[in-house]
Amino acid sequence: MNSIKRFVILTLTTTLGVASLNAMADKRIAAASNQTWKAECGSCHVAYPPSLLPADSWHVLMSGLDKHFGVDASVDAKTAAEIDSFLQRNAGRNRGTSAKPILRITETAWFRHEHDEVGASVWKNPKVKTASNCAACHTGAEQGNYSERGIRLPR
Ligand code: HEC
Ligand code: HEC
Repeated sequence: MNSIKRFVILTLTTTLGVASLNAMADKRIAAASNQTWKAECGSCHVAYPPSLLPADSWHVLMSGLDKHFGVDASVDAKTAAEIDSFLQRNAGRNRGTSAKPILRITETAWFRHEHDEVGASVWKNPKVKTASNCAACHTGAEQGNYSERGIRLPR
């Protein structure tokens, strides 16, 4: 291998290495978006980032929108197909071990771990109501931003 080639390869691996380290450092959530999804799935609660559940979970959720956590969130077949395909494409890894797909982000081991320092009194604050209410503490949740800098616990 000549020295120029070696230099190029070294520079490339260094740059890529730094980029992935940065991505890990601020645990950025992929900001995938789709207008239909945002309108339909962001009207009752924030449009939850697709990367926070695996593809299986989204598929089961999309197949039962008429019985969605006690409400009817159904959409026409064409809209459902578009949203399902968007969610499938941007879904997260399947980290679960159980056979049944988890339907709540807030019930994943990842979520519990990420929030294990949030005290019981914070969860019980009437301004929070439920852990599903991401926007109560994450001021950028509407825009899909969950970075630590945007966290404000309600008083
Ligand atoms: C008519 C209102 C409504 C619409 C529209 C709606 N949802 Fe929901 N969704 C709810 C309610 C109510 C809950 C339960 C919230 C709670 O337990 O506090 C929920 C919960 C969820 C949860 C679980 C949150 C958690 O606890 O981790 C997911 C995931 C979810 N919805 C996805 C979607 C998707 C995807 C769409 C669009 C296809 C959608 N929702 C549209 C009302 C709605
Ligand atoms: C009661 C307030 C509260 C609610 C509700 C809440 N979070 Fe959090 N979240 C926090 C706090 C506080 C942290 C920081 C925890 C720590 O690092 O000690 C955090 C951390 C995170 C992180 C990691 C941020 C980082 O850069 O380290 C993500 C991602 C996240 N939350 C997503 C969500 C999602 C998605 C929802 C809704 C399904 C949600 N949170 C609901 C308070 C909340």
